[in-house]
Amino acid sequence: LWKFRDVISILDYTRDELEHLFSVTDVILERSLDVGKPLDGKIVATAFIEPSTRTRLSFETAAKRLGAEVINLEPHLSSMTKGESLTDTLRMLDDYANLIVIRSPYEGSAKHAADVCEHPVINGGDGTQHHPTQAMIDLYTIRKLKGRIDGLEVGVLGDLKYGRAAASFIYGLTKFNVKRIWLISPEPLSPRPELMDRLKRMNVDFVKTENLEEAVEDLDILYVTRIQKERFPDPAEYEKLRGSYVITKKLLSRASEDLKVLHPLPRVDELSNDVDDTPYQAYFIQAKLGVPVRMALIGLVLGVF
Ligand code: NCD
Repeated sequence: LWKFRDVISILDYTRDELEHLFSVTDVILERSLDVGKPLDGKIVATAFIEPSTRTRLSFETAAKRLGAEVINLEPHLSSMTKGESLTDTLRMLDDYANLIVIRSPYEGSAKHAADVCEHPVINGGDGTQHHPTQAMIDLYTIRKLKGRIDGLEVGVLGDLKYGRAAASFIYGLTKFNVKRIWLISPEPLSPRPELMDRLKRMNVDFVKTENLEEAVEDLDILYVTRIQKERFPDPAEYEKLRGSYVITKKLLSRASEDLKVLHPLPRVDELSNDVDDTPYQAYFIQAKLGVPVRMALIGLVLGVF
């Protein structure tokens, strides 16, 4: 069940729970996001100590559309600049708000926040492995555009080592019965051992390759990700790997005409603008679906749906 449960990792959810989230999202979309103000009088806090455009603003939009008010921690203007700890900061937000959405560069911050706070905590991305709400949006987008997740061939391309959106998405796929997952990355950016272990343990049919060409004709979904510059311990290593892939319209000409390209965004240079006007483009749809999926999520966690 969803009510008052912290949202820390996509691995904590069963397929049935995810399907329930998706059906609530369907209803919200059928009503053009107009579901009244069930969260009137409630306050949602965002504590983002790492940059974000879509995640923070779509959470804020979702909360407001449900009638809640939103308070945002501005870390650079907060007492964190005076040395106040994240823990003390979270204690305050917990006193002020009914729900806290956190983002941080540190592995495990969301779990820590959930331990500190009485109110439910939603992980808006912490460190390199978990971004559960992005994965929920990604899976919902696929279900909406393809009518199903089962049976599809899915390529995940880019930074599979440091990219939390990619990792969470792949973890999410293991809750369904996809036909095959193609893990496409430069060797140094291969998925971490714990992710590979899960794929093996769940008997997922996967192929690991550096070459998109090998996969492109078979794919139903291509999930492109940015190489996570800010996570590299050595900037020279990033410089070597940047530009490893550039997805262009020309490159996709060999793909099935039903291929959909997803990207959690922001894109830098891995996805050419010339894909934007093709039928492959699904990343702006995906970004837009962030609002109804997060409305469903907030509503479920606060027990109004
Ligand atoms: C991602 C993130 O912050 O992990 N962005 C997002 O939330 N949509 C992806 C990224 O930064 O590359």
